[in-house]
Amino acid sequence: MTVTLREITMDNFRECIKLSVAEAQKGFVASNMYSLAEAQADGVSEPRAIYAGDQMVGFIMVDFEPKEDRGYISRLMVAEDHQGNGYGREAMRQVIERFKRNPACKEIQTAVVPENVAADTLYRSLGFEPTGEMDEGEAILRMTINRTPHQSLGL
Ligand SMILES: CC(C)(COP(=O)(O)OP(=O)(O)OC[C@H]1O[C@@H](n2cnc3c(N)ncnc32)[C@H](O)[C@@H]1OP(=O)(O)O)[C@@H](O)C(=O)NCCC(=O)NCCS
Repeated sequence: MTVTLREITMDNFRECIKLSVAEAQKGFVASNMYSLAEAQADGVSEPRAIYAGDQMVGFIMVDFEPKEDRGYISRLMVAEDHQGNGYGREAMRQVIERFKRNPACKEIQTAVVPENVAADTLYRSLGFEPTGEMDEGEAILRMTINRTPHQSLGL
């Protein structure tokens, strides 16, 4: 199934706010309603729906902080019924690729509630490393983007 990231529009935002994780996972991620409101308020976050084919299966939100040369993956969720199919991994892979294509982006940061073994395992397998820092109860992970001069030209 082809995984794509699509903008949230008038046509799909209702579907997006209906997506939900399992009850036991609710402490791991904000609701999509909250995240969309946050993106509207901060003006920099880029919320995207994760689609498998034409089915919306999840949500991811990123932003780039130019002063820090750093990309942030601030939110990731795959709806309960669609978990375990590789969609979360593929969505992460795609946003990491996009950050890597931005020559100004030197590192990528994300964070995880320490009890969230699944997300922590996923992030580490993608190359994120724990920094030992905590922020609002979440452990911060970071990935450094090492570029050869060739890559920095985007060629
Ligand atoms: C974390 C989450 C986004 C993963 O999405 P997903 O589509 O279910 O995950 P994938 O099928 O792509 O699996 C990706 C990896 O996650 C890890 N993983 C997934 N479920 C796991 C579990 N129950 N235990 C341990 N690791 C697990 C594995 O490393 C897996 O890779 P593998 O299949 O190659 O071994 C999803 O489970 C989710 O939305 N959870 C609730 C919200 C949440 O925790 N969000 C992250 C906040 S930091």
